[in-house]
Amino acid sequence: MADESFPASGFRSTSDSRLHCSLLKPMLLRNSVSTLLCRPQSRLLHSSRVVCCHSKTNSEAKYKDPFKLGSSDLKNLYEDIKKELFMATQELREMCEYYFDGKGKALRPMLVVLMARACNIHYNNCREVQPQQRSIAVIAEMIHTASLVHDDVIDGSDARRGKKTVNQIWGERQAVLAGDYILSAASVALARIGNATVISVLSQVIEDLVRGEFLQLGSKENENERFAHYLEKTFKKTASLIANSCKAVSILACPDPKVHEIAYQYGKNIGIAFQLIDDVLDFTSCADQLGKPAAADLKLGLATGPVLFACQQFPELNAMIMRRFSSPGDVERAWQYVQESNGVHQTTYLAQRYCSEAIREISKLQPSPERDALIQLTETVLTRDK
Ligand code: FPP
Ligand code: MG
Repeated sequence: MADESFPASGFRSTSDSRLHCSLLKPMLLRNSVSTLLCRPQSRLLHSSRVVCCHSKTNSEAKYKDPFKLGSSDLKNLYEDIKKELFMATQELREMCEYYFDGKGKALRPMLVVLMARACNIHYNNCREVQPQQRSIAVIAEMIHTASLVHDDVIDGSDARRGKKTVNQIWGERQAVLAGDYILSAASVALARIGNATVISVLSQVIEDLVRGEFLQLGSKENENERFAHYLEKTFKKTASLIANSCKAVSILACPDPKVHEIAYQYGKNIGIAFQLIDDVLDFTSCADQLGKPAAADLKLGLATGPVLFACQQFPELNAMIMRRFSSPGDVERAWQYVQESNGVHQTTYLAQRYCSEAIREISKLQPSPERDALIQLTETVLTRDK
């Protein structure tokens, strides 16, 4: 893959797109799996390999469960979200509150409060999360959930987190409106923070979500363009929310643009890794484990990382990708090719590289248990199975 094939758009700067080049280059140029460092035998590369690259930093990561460190800040997260939805009429409120049942991973709010604490400590040695920073955690979870409610309508999905989707229970039109309402309530909460830069940073997320989802509707004929398109979509659809929420709390923590950039880069890299693993799980987990249908991406016509890597070994996949797996038997054959290829391993390895980059970025902050927990979270992202 040529460097110039990477898009500058979608990543904020040329240094961003250069990072994507440098992360992918060794994998795509030296394509065979034997050239990958330590070929993994299991589904997931052992994440200690990520740790190896940053042994000093990671040996400081004492928090086996990073979720514990931020949990006190998130104790009433769902109650607070429900307060934001209070003005809705009864049926609308029921639909809007449906996913705020405490059963989600709440990864985004956790990242936000840990980043807030890490930046506060870095700047003035005070770890307490400010009320406005806490609001960013609430808003991030609301924007995320609104996008999922809409996504299930677009994907025609009937199950999420082990239960029926909003569209399945109440209908598609109602689900669109419920997503709209959650988003509008999140916007009101954002305006209440009263910081124009923060408002602009989080508004960018909404634009990126829509553009990412729109990119997903299209495909590229050229193989190099296809991977760039996939990474740009991945950034916009998933990583932008994490990157910009992390940046927002760093802005509230301190005026130093270098810190804002560290927070953004950490969020961007862990966010891309998160989505790459999501795409892997679509091929390696069953529906019961995921709480949503498995192999959903192929059925939706989507060629994600595992397929794009598999295509280098099995060019037969090209035609199927172009027709979005629409001919009878395409989904089954593509699935088989992926299983026989190194696509899952290579996608996982790519996710590890993004996590290593996230660790490199966050390690620029002053040492703190919160910084260690953010490092530890990269491992959680890589080893999750749902
Ligand atoms: C899940 O993708 C979907 C997203 C991460 C973003 C969806 C964004 C939109 C629908 C644009 C509208 C945005 C707002 C803010 C209302 P997936 O289908 O790969 O994951 P899944 O398997 O969990 O469904
Ligand atoms: Mg979906």
